[in-house]
Amino acid sequence: MRAQPRPTISVIGTGYLGATHAVCMAELGFEVLGVDIDANRIRQLSAGDTPFYEPGLAALLRSNLEAGRLSFTCSIAAAVDHADVHFVCVGTPQRPDSQAADLRHVDAVISGLIAAGLGPRSLVVGKSTVPVGTTARLAARIAAAAPGAELAWNPEFLREGFAVEDTLHPDRLVFGVTSGGRAEAVLRALYSRMIDASTPVIVTDYATAELVKVAANAFLATKISFINAMSEVCDATGGDVVELADALAHDDRIGPLFLRAGIGYGGGCLPKDVRAFQARARELGVGPALSFLGEVDAVNMRARARAVRLAHELLGGDPMNRAVAVLGAAFKPNSDDIRDSPALDVATALRRDGAHVAVYDPAAAANARDRHPNLHIADSVIGAVAGAEIVLVLTEWSEFRTLDPAALRRHVARPVVIDGRGVLDPDAWRGAGWTYRALGRPPRPATVRHHAPRHLAERPLPERPTSERPTSERHLHQGAGLHVVDKAAH
Ligand code: UDX
Repeated sequence: MRAQPRPTISVIGTGYLGATHAVCMAELGFEVLGVDIDANRIRQLSAGDTPFYEPGLAALLRSNLEAGRLSFTCSIAAAVDHADVHFVCVGTPQRPDSQAADLRHVDAVISGLIAAGLGPRSLVVGKSTVPVGTTARLAARIAAAAPGAELAWNPEFLREGFAVEDTLHPDRLVFGVTSGGRAEAVLRALYSRMIDASTPVIVTDYATAELVKVAANAFLATKISFINAMSEVCDATGGDVVELADALAHDDRIGPLFLRAGIGYGGGCLPKDVRAFQARARELGVGPALSFLGEVDAVNMRARARAVRLAHELLGGDPMNRAVAVLGAAFKPNSDDIRDSPALDVATALRRDGAHVAVYDPAAAANARDRHPNLHIADSVIGAVAGAEIVLVLTEWSEFRTLDPAALRRHVARPVVIDGRGVLDPDAWRGAGWTYRALGRPPRPATVRHHAPRHLAERPLPERPTSERPTSERHLHQGAGLHVVDKAAH
């Protein structure tokens, strides 16, 4: 018998954040109940299928279901009966009528927990990204309706595509707590494996914990928009933004990450978090402090428009009825997430302008087909580029980085490529006869090149076995007859 029984856990909301958190907490050995109002999603997860593509998640989901540590339900009352700690992982999307975050799902979870009789020893732990001040408001609701129950805020910093790795090996843990409560001790016990492995823990108040998350996302977005603003200046002056970023990155105070110029950031987090942070600052009377984030957003949206303009230019000014291939639909590689995807924004803009647009993505094809029936979604790179007059590489999947330009050239009508993510080797593509263009890079190679710019990539991806790759990706590698260029990887 254990002296201290391990707390049982519920994870409410089984999207990217919640499903990954539930699976990873089970992997850490806890008994976990995942809760969602979406019955389809609960059925899928219970059957061992992940409702979205996230490397490594499906295998851990299945092994923890089999081990009996993990189960799923639509009933929040079951969560209250079953668990001591309730993680709140529901979405906080942008409101349809303003830039602010829509908190209805978070409030509904708190109402549900209270209505189900949240007990006095319970701990509620928020992980969703919320406007500063939310936790204090929710804590007051809980204190009034469920005396003795506690609330903590423990923001999540996981990146899609690395969700399992980031959850099991976080950079830091942030606990927003009130003094004198049990929350810190419970959270330390839940995350003891990470803490024993020297993960830094920042224990702070509610407001600071909430701010860490939105400030981190605002900083990352600012870094990307900074280099994309430099890219605009490069376009006006003949400078090369890739060489500029490389030179900046040698300064340790600046560093190489998130300085990859291109069509900008997207996804379910950065765009809406940057906007919600500004909206909250205005409500708090400190709007001017964050007004620069309006520029960050504007630079980001301009990057997409610049890519569309460049495609027009390379098509001689008239995209009507021209065959355009878009490689990439997901907002980033190793994800099937198309929320606010810059790639699909560019693709749909060219479609609106009359082009025939064929899109290929190794994981996001089905989502793109559902949401954008007017785009032709191809099953392979070759299917997308066949007969194309221009190819746009808009998501930095490794299989696009490693395409052999000479082999690809045989399939297109005109060898013209826009590298929307700065991940192709311009010399290799030009050497194979392509017109290579990228935002912020001169149309012709620089006359003086002292060294090849190193790739400004994120933390490298763990290699995945072929069996874990989506079927379409396997098909491309095995069947399409394209040779890969090893040195271009990352
Ligand atoms: C982000 C944060 O990184 C994560 O900590 C937070 O928890 C959620 O939001 P994510 O949405 O998964 O994670 O995406 P991220 O890896 O940050 O990339 C965001 C976008 O920026 C992608 O569209 C990516 O292609 C783009 N990007 C990234 C660039 O355009 N340039 C870069 O240099 C880096």
